[in-house]
Amino acid sequence: YVIGIDLGTSAVKVLLVNQQGVVCSEVSKSYPLIQEKSGYSEQNPEEWVEKTVLALKELVDSFKGPVENIEGISFSGQMHGLVLLDENHVVLRNAILWNDVRTTKQCHEIYQRVGEKQLVEVAKNPALEGFTLPKILWVKENEPTNYEKAAIFLLPKDYLRFRLTGKMHSEYSDAAGTLLLNVSKKQWSSEICEAVGVKFQLCPPLVESHEFVGNILAEISEKTGLAENTKVFAGGADNACGAIGSGILEDGKTLCSIGTSGVVLSYEESKDREFEGKVHYFNHGKENAFYTMGVTLAAGYSLSWFKDTFTNNEDFTSMLQGIEDVPVGANGLLFTPYLAGERTPHADSLIRGSFIGMDASHQKIDFVRAVIEGITFSLNQSIEIFRKSGKHIDTIVSIGGGAKNDTWLQIQADIFNAKIQKLSSEQGPGIGAAMLAAYGCGWYSSLSECASEFSQVVKTYEPIESNVEKYKELYSLYKRVYKQTAELTK
Ligand code: XUL
Repeated sequence: YVIGIDLGTSAVKVLLVNQQGVVCSEVSKSYPLIQEKSGYSEQNPEEWVEKTVLALKELVDSFKGPVENIEGISFSGQMHGLVLLDENHVVLRNAILWNDVRTTKQCHEIYQRVGEKQLVEVAKNPALEGFTLPKILWVKENEPTNYEKAAIFLLPKDYLRFRLTGKMHSEYSDAAGTLLLNVSKKQWSSEICEAVGVKFQLCPPLVESHEFVGNILAEISEKTGLAENTKVFAGGADNACGAIGSGILEDGKTLCSIGTSGVVLSYEESKDREFEGKVHYFNHGKENAFYTMGVTLAAGYSLSWFKDTFTNNEDFTSMLQGIEDVPVGANGLLFTPYLAGERTPHADSLIRGSFIGMDASHQKIDFVRAVIEGITFSLNQSIEIFRKSGKHIDTIVSIGGGAKNDTWLQIQADIFNAKIQKLSSEQGPGIGAAMLAAYGCGWYSSLSECASEFSQVVKTYEPIESNVEKYKELYSLYKRVYKQTAELTK
């Protein structure tokens, strides 16, 4: 057996997985967000450790066999969060998380000091509030004593791993989300550190995602019941682990994952394909590979907002009942999902959403279909960027909330103009973490071999030609709405 630990934003989930990739048991423990001011989002790293130890203990307590049969552990983690430690490895302040947006000023500074072109060339990504470097600069400016005391920074799951093993590392897939990594060279960028005035020594040693980093500490073995020789492997960023868990491990493989936010993520073998910073370009959890990713901030969130605001506590299944009977284009109703601004392709935190074309004949179900189509149009903008760069995308694996409804899966096939595959396993990042441990333990000769054992395609949705044509027209209308509403909604 192996354990995949998914350190998320609202909870930690631990999965016990056997050699066939079957999830035998799972335990989840939640922790709060600390939001002192508007735009702030923090967590206390100690809570991650406490809740993970509790979850592991519960998992091990319910395990029937000898604990020595649990061979390895690995991690998936919420990306970008900043954990600063002093020279005694004591945490200096709460972690500042990926969804904290206090750092707009620092993002401008990064562009000024590094240069936009240079930043995209080295770090492969634009300066966004969520990334780690702007957070380090914010601490330097606003909490100089903490910055002076800082000896090293760690990302969330890397801190958790440090507390379980006593060893400090980062790995490439998460390091890529800091803006401090030279993504293609796989080295911390001394040029960027120098240009922005960040101490290079703050950057932790780098390893591969499947690399063995040590055994668990005696103290952790005592607290959880795990054997002392349980092997620990580095793990990956949640999106990289989602990709691994869904088998996005070779050229031509693309994933659409719709949760609160939605991402479209595409495997990338080349380290220097040109996207001009329009999409994220991160190191994969698979050695020497990459993935590109576009993000729709309010994907599933748009639908849950609609449900909470306009229905009387309906559940998703009943709210979506009947969308199959509404024609393509929701009877002329168009929705843009900019409830909380938008990341790809606009990187615009101020834009707001809209319903366009309302008619007295429209019913609630037309609105539901329009919301679903709007979310899918937004994700299609990321796919369009990939295709324009020369990527050939004809098949997309769909996971998350968007894969729970047959009609939505068909809408994805029709709007993306690609075959949509639904998988047997729905665990995403946690199973990807377990796969890194399984591969690290030597159960499989490659992650791809592991993926074909762990998750299979159960259904494929083919694009329907006449719908594809209608959606093409609607999509060009959809794209015009951003510009036209930008002036009105800001
Ligand atoms: C990716 C991002 C989120 C976090 C969520 O850039 O900000 O997907 O990884 O954990």
